[in-house]
Amino acid sequence: MKTLIKKLVETVGPSGYETRIREVVRAEVEKLADEISTDAMGNLIVRKGKKTKNGLKIMLAAHIDEIGVMVTHVDKNGFARFTTIGGVRPHTCYGSRVRFLNGAAGVIGGERLDNQANVHSFENMFIDVGATSPQDSPVKIGDVAAFDRPFEDLGDRLISKAMDDRVCVAVLIETLRNIKSSINELYFVFSTQEEVGTRGATTAAFGIDPDVGIAVDVTGTGDTPRGAVMDVKLGAGPAIKIKDSGMLADPNLVNALVNCAQKNKIPYQREVLLGGSTDARAMQITRAGMPAGCVSVPTRYIHSPSEMVDFHDVENAVLLLTAFLSEAIVL
Ligand code: CO
Ligand code: ZN
Repeated sequence: MKTLIKKLVETVGPSGYETRIREVVRAEVEKLADEISTDAMGNLIVRKGKKTKNGLKIMLAAHIDEIGVMVTHVDKNGFARFTTIGGVRPHTCYGSRVRFLNGAAGVIGGERLDNQANVHSFENMFIDVGATSPQDSPVKIGDVAAFDRPFEDLGDRLISKAMDDRVCVAVLIETLRNIKSSINELYFVFSTQEEVGTRGATTAAFGIDPDVGIAVDVTGTGDTPRGAVMDVKLGAGPAIKIKDSGMLADPNLVNALVNCAQKNKIPYQREVLLGGSTDARAMQITRAGMPAGCVSVPTRYIHSPSEMVDFHDVENAVLLLTAFLSEAIVL
């Protein structure tokens, strides 16, 4: 599974430009699907099974897009100014490498700081792609890039850019592989444009019209020095979301997930996330609404170029989802 995670995280695919990563995922899931399609937003939708008498139509979503940058202007000396795609933060950018879809590479630099204690805002930063003029620059207005960092395997812990949400894309692929039969009709959606406002999941949920929605995404932790006050940590199991800033998970779905974890002796954590949201919000309020929830992989340094997860949490997320989806769900 680590090989799969490495392949997924190292593929460039900022929001709106998911073609390449979608093809990587498609190659993995093609043989496992009963039906596979792509919609106008670029969501890859994989159906497994047909709804039976006591079954439900369940949509699972893990987003394939990642945060990134887009060129807004190339100045006369070849320095590219940029805007952000999704929740990039200035203090994570200094010295960051970026990789454009066309293969061009660059480093993010900043104007001179009068006070070293300050952090530049994006207006005072630029991408240096090694050009000296707009003419010899390999990038132009509108070109997009993602952060460029290799996957690092530390044994129990893994580091990479785009763990958000490719690690959960791997979780969904492994879950799909594990499910032999289900009374439920399952839709595995590899969604687009989550980082710019859960846009892909919104249209996918409308099109599929499921009975229940479950997002699989990363969540923050409180286990680093002077970190956030949050009772989620690496290595203690996948987190079952109760609330984030965009959603209150359906309490019956939360209980069903908790009961499933307890029954199968899978470690889990209860999650209340104060900032951020996921595709579960989009599903919950699409059409006439549906019960929605989220299974999260605890992640440190989210939206930095080096996000860290614990591999056991990843494996246990697969076990939890496999067990949950294989059985009858009563909400
Ligand atoms: Co994110
Ligand atoms: Zn995410």
